[in-house]
This record gives sequence, structure tokens and C-alpha cells, in this order.
Amino acid sequence: MAVRIGIIGCGKIADRASLPNLVNYRGKAEVKVLCDVDVSKAKALKDKFELCGADVVKDWKKLITRKDIDAVFVDTPNYLHEEMTVGAAENKKHILVEKPIAITVKSADKMIKAAKSNGVYLMVEQTHRFNPIHQAAKKVLESGMLGKIHNIRGRIGHAGPEYWSEGKAHWFYDKKRSGGGAMVDIGVHITDLIRWFAAKPITEVFATIRTIEKGVKVDDNATVLLKFEDGSKGEIECSWTTRPYEVMTFAYGTKGKMMTNLGADKPIKVVIANTNKGEDPNCTLEELYPEVGPGGDWENSVHYFVDCLVKGERPSVSGEEGRETIRIISSAYESNESGKWVKIK
Ligand SMILES: NC(=O)c1ccc[n+]([C@@H]2O[C@H](COP(=O)([O-])OP(=O)(O)OC[C@H]3O[C@@H](n4cnc5c(N)ncnc54)[C@H](O)[C@@H]3O)[C@@H](O)[C@H]2O)c1
Repeated sequence: MAVRIGIIGCGKIADRASLPNLVNYRGKAEVKVLCDVDVSKAKALKDKFELCGADVVKDWKKLITRKDIDAVFVDTPNYLHEEMTVGAAENKKHILVEKPIAITVKSADKMIKAAKSNGVYLMVEQTHRFNPIHQAAKKVLESGMLGKIHNIRGRIGHAGPEYWSEGKAHWFYDKKRSGGGAMVDIGVHITDLIRWFAAKPITEVFATIRTIEKGVKVDDNATVLLKFEDGSKGEIECSWTTRPYEVMTFAYGTKGKMMTNLGADKPIKVVIANTNKGEDPNCTLEELYPEVGPGGDWENSVHYFVDCLVKGERPSVSGEEGRETIRIISSAYESNESGKWVKIK
């Protein structure tokens, strides 16, 4: 039987990511209910995706209590993630919550606890882990071909949420509803990606978080220096003032380096240095362009969640993973306030 799904929040991400990738997974997934406080948005998506059998509701509490759904997608503004996830878990629904898991570590803890005590799966939609380029990069890092990694960096940037959603008065610019600016909105992507790539705990951060261009009350640019448990270093940058969109990562090891660049002709490049005895390690021994698998990040992550439910497997991008990422982000804001390195507690 297909996994029966209810969507809470029928805005941009539901339109661009959740619904197209559920509809193209018919047979494995079935959308049963669409919910939005603005019912016209839920109705519009019902029509757009030709979901004739789906119901439309205004009150999310009416969705989570339904007996005919197995899982809920929480596609609403960040400040609502906690309440909706906890409510869904208490009604024994599995949950795919959009990034960031929540706007505080405390909220994330409540969500994790609710999922655990009700025996349901909680996955966080950290989509960049599912981008086939990043999946190919993860394999390179795991292969050990770069040697010991001593520096890992990532940058994400776009022109700002006003080009994704609706204007400057939108919730993305309201700290109470978003939790923060670029550092939360897209910093969460690059922080999670670098954490996943590095596969070792971040122990300290030092951040410079600023509003440089947009004249909004939240940050539009951030740089965060990282120290890892093994003494190696890293850096994260995110920006709402980068045109056009970019996501880049760099990993440097004792035997070589790797670069990824979404959208480039050759989006992943590995260079192995000539570290043979007596040779100059500045010279290249080998250049590799690893094969990139099919699909896109949104498609792969939505399908992965559905597959986990079909197989009864716990999603790897768990609530705990989402919590760890938001913990790093909270510590980065703390460092920006104090002007000091902050230990990850
Ligand atoms: N994974 C990604 O790549 C990605 C990309 C963009 C946004 N997001 C995340 O998706 C979430 C939604 O962002 P968006 O861009 O779709 O925002 P949006 O403003 O376009 O959509 C949010 C929707 O939620 C609805 N809503 C608000 N309060 C509600 C309530 N109480 N009950 C039901 N519906 C309610 C709004 O009416 C709106 O339609 C955010 O957490 C955001 O960070 C993820």
C-alpha cells in the first residue's frame, strides 16, 4: 500500500519540492490531504497537481488527527515546525519536517522526544545531502583517496528570499518567525553539508554575521570559522547577496583536494597530488571527475523518506542530525554577539 501523506503548508516548498516529487512517486506515495491557513493556496495546489482524491483543510490539527494518513510533511514557516511536528508525532504520524528542524535547540529536543516516545520517524529535509553531486563527493571523502582531511569549507549564496517567496515583509525577514536571516535559511544547508562531509564533531565556532546590503532586520551574510575535534579546521559562508545562485565546497587532505560546484560543467573535481617519494607534491598525479548519479536533491530526499517508511527504516537525516546543525548555528550567533570563539556545548 502507498504511504498516505498530508501536507501542512502549501507555499513555495510544497509547490516546488514536496508535491511534484510525491506525484511522480505515485504507487509508493499518495497525497490525501492538503492544509494551509490560506485555503486558496491549498486548493490551487490541489488543482495544479490534479490531486482529485485529496481533501483540503484550513486547520492543521484536523489533518494530524486523521486516521487515513501515515505521514505528515511540515512545509510551514520555521517557527511552526515544533508545534506541528510534536502534534503529528503525538498522533502517531511519521514526519518530514523542512529545514531548519526548528529555530531553537530546545524546540528540536521536544520534537525528537515526541517522535521517540510515539515510535514514529522524524526526518529533516536537509536536501543538499541528497544532491547527487554531494553524494558523489561524500563517496570520495569516505574512500580515503584525499588522505587525512585537514581543511573543509563550503559556501552557499543566492539573491535572497524575496526572489523565492513574497517580498521583503515576508516571514523570512522576521526573526520571530524565521529564527534568523541567511545564517538560518541557507546557512543551515551548508552547515549540515559540511558536518556530513566532515563526519567528525565541530567543537568550536567563531562567526561574523552581518546585514550588509538588504536593509532588513535579520542578517544577509555570514562567515563561520570551525574547529573540529581532531584539530582540523573549516569554514562556512552563506549569503543572500550572491548572484547568481551558488553552492561550492572544498576539501583539502594530505594526498589531494576536492572541489564541488553546483551548476558547473564539471561539478566535482578531485586532484590527487604526486606524493611519491622524491616527487614534488605541488604536481598533479591524477585528476578525476567522479560520476554523478541521477535525480535532484528535492526529488531524492522526498523519495528517500517515502522509501524509509515503506521499508520500515529510520531515515539517516534524523531529528538528532537536524538538532546538531541548529546547535552549530545558535553557537555561531552567540559568537557573533560576543566576538569570541564559542565552544559547542
Ligand atoms: N529544503 C529546501 O531546499 C527549502 C527551500 C525553501 C524553503 N524551505 C523551507 O520550507 C518551509 C516553508 O518555506 P516556503 O518557502 O514554502 O514558505 P512559504 O511562505 O512560501 O509557504 C509557507 C506556507 O505555510 C502556510 N502557513 C502558515 N501558517 C500556517 C498554519 N498555521 N497552518 C497551515 N499553513 C500555514 C502559509 O500560508 C504558506 O502558504 C520553511 O521552513 C523553509 O525554510 C526549504
